Amino acid sequence: MAVMHTALITGGTSGIGAAFARAFARRKMDLVLVARNAQRLEESASELRNKYGVRVECLAADLGDDAGVQAVAQRLLDNTDPVDFFVANAGFSTRFPIISADEADYANHDAAIDVMVRAVYRLCGTAAYAMRERGHGWIVTTSSVSGLVSQNNYSAIKAWATNYTESLNVQLRGSGVQATALCPGWVRTEFHQRGGVKGTSIPGPLWMEADRVVEDCLADVARGRALSIPGKRYRFLAFWLRHLPRSAVYRISAALTSRRAKED
Ligand SMILES: NC(=O)c1ccc[n+]([C@@H]2O[C@H](COP(=O)([O-])OP(=O)(O)OC[C@H]3O[C@@H](n4cnc5c(N)ncnc54)[C@H](OP(=O)(O)O)[C@@H]3O)[C@@H](O)[C@H]2O)c1
Repeated sequence: MAVMHTALITGGTSGIGAAFARAFARRKMDLVLVARNAQRLEESASELRNKYGVRVECLAADLGDDAGVQAVAQRLLDNTDPVDFFVANAGFSTRFPIISADEADYANHDAAIDVMVRAVYRLCGTAAYAMRERGHGWIVTTSSVSGLVSQNNYSAIKAWATNYTESLNVQLRGSGVQATALCPGWVRTEFHQRGGVKGTSIPGPLWMEADRVVEDCLADVARGRALSIPGKRYRFLAFWLRHLPRSAVYRISAALTSRRAKED
């Protein structure tokens, strides 16, 4: 495996993205952190610099708008200090109705698609192009096991993210660059609180810690895997969700949706 020098992580200030930043810093890699909140970016960067002695660049950008995506794309193309590990991780919970006459619901779906679909294919495509030219590189997208059920627009977006990343990996074969879709289950981060999800219907043993999720993912990347599902319980669930008849998956999806609705 070629040596990794610099990682760029979108959503690198919180939750799973921050765990990626710590994991790379422990491996003495330099970092580029992307998020909207500039003050939090600076705080995260100075903590990492002080603790691990690595270089950390901050790139404040909103991946929901074109200017933000373009700024990150330019950094991925920069050959002076090349990014050789790109993590497309920024995202949020979106549970707005998919059957609606309310324009606000569709605006929320648009925002989710901008950050978790449009920014992902534009940035992963750019990273893949630059890395292939250099002959090596690694790309991880943070998808979700939600993509294996049929619940709402979030599960549809994450089903897309997993398939897109696997497609990217197929197209990158033989180039020295690989792409891996990380599909976590429930992870303790700010994601649920930010999205107004109480999470009370989620059984305790199904929660995972972000640092563990990331270490499992990096082990899968080292094995050259296109798909990473951290945790035995989730690999077991994923196996069944992929092999059960679709009618059974729909019943499970409906049960999950009604449990979730009771939380609200
Ligand atoms: N937590 C879970 O249970 C879970 C499970 C499966 C998959 N995931 C996925 O994991 C990824 C990370 O989520 P998390 O759980 O770590 O959530 P989190 O703790 O809320 O962190 C989200 C990160 O994304 C950044 N971000 C959000 N919107 C952005 C935007 N428009 N532009 C740029 N940065 C943005 C946030 O920073 P700013 O607010 O400063 O921009 C923050 O750094 C998401 O893609 C999520 O769908 C989470």
